[in-house]
Amino acid sequence: MITKATAPAKAILLGEHFVVYGTGAILCAVQKYTSVSVEARSTGVRVSSRYGCDEFASGDDPKNASRHHRPILQIANDLGRGADVTIDSEIPPGVGLGSSSACCVAGAGAMLNQNGQDVEDLALRAEKSVFDGVSGADTAACLRGGLIEFGARGARSFEHAGVSLVVALTGREHSTAETVAAVRQNKERDEDAFGAVCEQVGGLIGDARSALDASDLVSLGAHMSQNQKFLTDIGVSDPTIDRIVAAAQRTSYGAKLTGAGAGGCVIALVDDSNAAKTLGSVEDAGATAFRVETDCDGLRIS
Ligand code: PMV
Repeated sequence: MITKATAPAKAILLGEHFVVYGTGAILCAVQKYTSVSVEARSTGVRVSSRYGCDEFASGDDPKNASRHHRPILQIANDLGRGADVTIDSEIPPGVGLGSSSACCVAGAGAMLNQNGQDVEDLALRAEKSVFDGVSGADTAACLRGGLIEFGARGARSFEHAGVSLVVALTGREHSTAETVAAVRQNKERDEDAFGAVCEQVGGLIGDARSALDASDLVSLGAHMSQNQKFLTDIGVSDPTIDRIVAAAQRTSYGAKLTGAGAGGCVIALVDDSNAAKTLGSVEDAGATAFRVETDCDGLRIS
């Protein structure tokens, strides 16, 4: 029997990097998907994806697998299972849209053939096999779908119909591990200054939560643009991102980088009144862009 699970991509509306240090973040699952199909077998793990096909013996050290297939081997080892695994993804990799988290969530969901806390724990362990320093925010968003707030006390879903975003790709993949390490160095150079920025971001998250509750796109967008200033201050923006953000901010409710930064992509908050203009302005600034809506379902097992 083949079990298939599908998980959405995510965008961080506010709070990336600071969330690693316990400041909250607001995330949104978006309608781009990764599916993982699993067929049980008595021993060994075979993984095929856009990165090729790998065969492992059961219990092989995940460190010897490529970073793309390592989380699946980690999941199979954690469960002591053999499996034939096929990954199909339409999420652009390495740009901050959670392609790795969606794969871990769909992989864990398909292997367990269920949804819920056990899936989240298994998926997060799988993600940490690639980079131990993740906050868990991405995993929570891809699992739950919709809009969530993630903080020191875990994830909370918003009662909200969702937001519409223009995603603008800079054309350069980024490394989450490298940018998180660079931010840590920045923090260690001046703990007081970094703490002060964390406090301001915390205030911003609280205000953005109220804006979302009131479905006030003007206010939410302004908070996202303000968040971009703090991300620039900690050194995770770059000239390409700055150019695309400036173009997007002229036509949308607000724009910022999303995810780790230093490459990756920019998101702009839009609705029907300004989406087409914003797509045009970020493309004029050199980005490849598309519009996405919120995914309200999260992990689906079929
Ligand atoms: O770029 P991504 O999708 O890997 O997002 C990383 C978000 C960070 O806040 C930088 C790290 C984390 O685990 O929260």
